[in-house]
Amino acid sequence: MPGERLSVVVTRRLPDVVEARLKELFDVELNETDVPMDRAALVEAMRRADILVPTLTDTIDGAMLAAAGDRLKLIANYGAGVDHIDVATARQRGVHVSNTPGVLTDDTADMTMALILAVTRRIPEGLARMQGSDWNGWSPTAMLGGRIAGRRLGILGMGRIGQAVARRAAAFGMQVHYHNRRRLHRGIEEDLGATWWDSLDQMVSRMDILSVNCPHTPSTFHLMNARRLKLMKPSAVIVNTSRGEVIDENALTRMLRAGEIAGAGLDVFENGEVNPRLRELENVVLLPHMGSATVEGRVEMGEKVIINIKTFDDGHRPPDLVVPSML
Ligand code: DGY
Repeated sequence: MPGERLSVVVTRRLPDVVEARLKELFDVELNETDVPMDRAALVEAMRRADILVPTLTDTIDGAMLAAAGDRLKLIANYGAGVDHIDVATARQRGVHVSNTPGVLTDDTADMTMALILAVTRRIPEGLARMQGSDWNGWSPTAMLGGRIAGRRLGILGMGRIGQAVARRAAAFGMQVHYHNRRRLHRGIEEDLGATWWDSLDQMVSRMDILSVNCPHTPSTFHLMNARRLKLMKPSAVIVNTSRGEVIDENALTRMLRAGEIAGAGLDVFENGEVNPRLRELENVVLLPHMGSATVEGRVEMGEKVIINIKTFDDGHRPPDLVVPSML
């Protein structure tokens, strides 16, 4: 009906300024409690909404889309990763999917560097020592870590975030290497000072630090499987700010325990849950998926969601439409 406002259901709390703007523009239902919706609640939400605004904590599979009926027109995901949504089925059913790329690139790349430094320079151990008040002053041999300048960094996935990591790593004096589905344009490679490896196996076996920056798709699931992890140098460190599913976490945990890999910095976990055995390891830094967690980033993600919905409402293609062939 002309003039009627779109009905929008938001599954989690978003920054106040984003929620306020959504309320101004749409007939919006917010989740004041921030408790994640279960499967049934998500299906119900999709039945009564024109637009659903989910996050990575909401799995939306084909069966749920089939049960949702015909009202839903757009899933405007609050987040860049869409591995929790069956995008192909959504498309078949005429439901568009959009995401929020670009605005979390710098924050996630910063967190990648933070993890590299936290592991190699033993920052959490240093903090624990100070907080536990067992520090007896400076010593020439205490708390020695490894210098990152001159080390070889292998970036697995050279999209926006991988390239932002490359820029930062170069500024830290690291040698930048990468593996990607497609080789970058030579000019970009030169600009980044990055060396391309066609063979992931060969790159993995020669790096001092490996950073996972590719999205989770069917073809990257367990890309770092047990066989590949075994190719890493025992002195090497792996960091992951992308998705836990790209690494076989059980295999990684076993190898970290056995000292076959020197350390890991993990912001993401398989199925979004931390393997309890990882918590016991001293050579591992764990973070609660906070790569994009800046006030600025989260507000900009909200703005992207609003622009995608508004453009769709105005009869145009949302700027961040996700199509299955991109995945
Ligand atoms: C995303 O947007 O997919 C990020 O993982 C959130 O931090």
